Amino acid sequence: MEEPGKQTVGVVGSGVMGHGIAMTFARHGFRTIMYDISEEFLKKAMDNISSGRFGLQKLVDKGSITAQQKEEIIGRIMATTSLKDLSGCALVVEAAPEDRNLKGKIFSELDSICGRDTILASNTSGIMISDLSSFTRRGDRFVGMHWFNPPQVMKLVEVVRGPETSQKTIDFITDLSRRMEKVPIVVNDAPGFFTTRFINSWLMEAYRIFEQGVAGIREIDEMSRLAFGFPMGPFELSDLIGLDTMLHVAEYMFDETKNPAYSAPTVLKKLVLSGYLGKKIGSKGGWYDYYSLQKSNR
Ligand SMILES: NC(=O)c1ccc[n+]([C@@H]2O[C@H](COP(=O)([O-])OP(=O)(O)OC[C@H]3O[C@@H](n4cnc5c(N)ncnc54)[C@H](O)[C@@H]3O)[C@@H](O)[C@H]2O)c1
Repeated sequence: MEEPGKQTVGVVGSGVMGHGIAMTFARHGFRTIMYDISEEFLKKAMDNISSGRFGLQKLVDKGSITAQQKEEIIGRIMATTSLKDLSGCALVVEAAPEDRNLKGKIFSELDSICGRDTILASNTSGIMISDLSSFTRRGDRFVGMHWFNPPQVMKLVEVVRGPETSQKTIDFITDLSRRMEKVPIVVNDAPGFFTTRFINSWLMEAYRIFEQGVAGIREIDEMSRLAFGFPMGPFELSDLIGLDTMLHVAEYMFDETKNPAYSAPTVLKKLVLSGYLGKKIGSKGGWYDYYSLQKSNR
């Protein structure tokens, strides 16, 4: 693999995950092109990279990087609304919303735009790589590269091997992940892979326990921390992930497996339909905001 400074990588989508993935690439020396559908989203993403909760200014304040290094990292990121700018990338990581048809359309466009050697990767939470790769003619250079939130901090990269993914592609992704101080673990393709299948059943069960009135949101979060040592309870965690993403994942997991344990309970749908999407741009708030509003309206 070439030196990071000589390689350009692309990120499609600059939301919760995309901006963090772009920042991580740039911080480790890669020239990074970040694509989104509007200048407004890209501006918010660049602001987050510079001064968000997990942004570069925080690293400067902690003394992990200098102010000059911050500027160099930002200088390695180019923001664009033209997908064609990704044509020369060695790797493009897609982090667009969790919608199979939307991702399929993006991959089919990338497949015709990008050079023969470009590896296409999806950060999907659980849509099968076998399915997404079928939108391209490069199954051997198609792979799941599943990052965790926040990508700047979380160590794991779940690398998902599709039916045609070559060993060369797997080696490229695992090598690149290690260069970014991540721990890549390779799994085989299935709905939700390992991590999403595991966490989805846990989160949906917590929502159902709450829906049945067994315990409140705050209590379930606190018990999860105190009893099991989890760093965050299920409601705090799902606010961080994004409730629309959780709903998409649950619907997909249920459709694919027909296992009722994966299905989304009504409480989750109510929040998403009312615009409570968790801690993300454009959201009215998360679980705690929604239920404190319900209480004050009674
Ligand atoms: N949020 C998490 O904790 C988490 C963790 C791991 C994986 N994921 C996965 O990462 C992906 C992105 O999730 P997110 O939480 O960052 O979502 P998000 O909604 O925060 O960001 C999605 C971004 O994609 C952009 N977008 C919309 N349409 C697009 C298009 N046609 N082409 C390109 N970009 C488009 C949006 O403008 C937005 O900036 C999803 O597949 C999700 O399942 C999310």
